[in-house]
Amino acid sequence: MKLSDNSKLQSDSATQGPAIEVENLTCAYGDKTILKDVSFSVKEREILFIIGGSGCGKSTLLRCMIGLLAPKSGEIRYFGKSFLKASQEEQRDILKSFGVLYQSNALWSSMTIAENIALPLEQYTTHSKEEIAEIVALKLEQVGLPGVQELYPRELSGGMKKRAALARALALDPKIVFFDEPTSGLDPVTARGMDDLILEVSKIFGTTMVIVSHELSSIFSLAHRVILLDGEVQGIIADGEPKKLAAESHNEQIRNFLLPGQLRSL
Ligand SMILES: Nc1ncnc2c1ncn2[C@@H]1O[C@H](COP(=O)(O)OP(=O)(O)OP(=O)(O)O)[C@@H](O)[C@H]1O
Ligand SMILES: [Mg+2]
Repeated sequence: MKLSDNSKLQSDSATQGPAIEVENLTCAYGDKTILKDVSFSVKEREILFIIGGSGCGKSTLLRCMIGLLAPKSGEIRYFGKSFLKASQEEQRDILKSFGVLYQSNALWSSMTIAENIALPLEQYTTHSKEEIAEIVALKLEQVGLPGVQELYPRELSGGMKKRAALARALALDPKIVFFDEPTSGLDPVTARGMDDLILEVSKIFGTTMVIVSHELSSIFSLAHRVILLDGEVQGIIADGEPKKLAAESHNEQIRNFLLPGQLRSL
């Protein structure tokens, strides 16, 4: 079985137009509104970064987009299909086309790496045990971790855990991968390795990426576009190509986010 061929077929046959459309999305916890009337879209194969201060609602937005939190109002469409109005079965199909890498990796500590990566395959596919083992090995190779199947998460370094979590996120050949802080807690060299891997996956498989991150180096080396969220505005205060925003914006908040200290005063 050649998974890479399979993924290529999937991405080639995907519809034209935006991969993701978020329209007037309002997200809240009970009475506490976090984001109000947020709208943006993400093109197929685009790498979008969601940035903004701590507590402004980045993870909340991600949670709404992957079906973990029901928005108060608004619409989310994936490849032209409504996610919020979809039947349970349709929603399951849409969710199957996502890969998610959570801030904490969320690998099960009592399971081996192979068992962790096999989980979505067991849940969503009818592959045999042997096929699943083959896919697990292939995914681990793709993320540069061949042969760690029998190890437990605690036996891996921070960087290796992130890669293993990415292997699990890629298990079902997703069309879209969502990342919450993929390089947080990593040293700069390991973080750069993770960035390179994300870029490689995006190029080889044509995967659309939505990434929450604070890392300027990641933003400037990976992002086609960024949206900047603001907690007070409860929405997006900037949307564009990061280099352009950094060079052209006169808004102090945007410059604070996108320019390292020494450049801000220039
Ligand atoms: N389960 C919850 N119930 C109530 N309020 C919540 C819940 N989760 C988050 N919040 C609140 O929602 C707001 C946005 O939180 P969120 O985690 O989305 O921020 P964030 O931008 O991801 O922050 P960080 O950069 O620190 O990860 C915060 O004020 C937070 O306290
Ligand atoms: Mg967060």
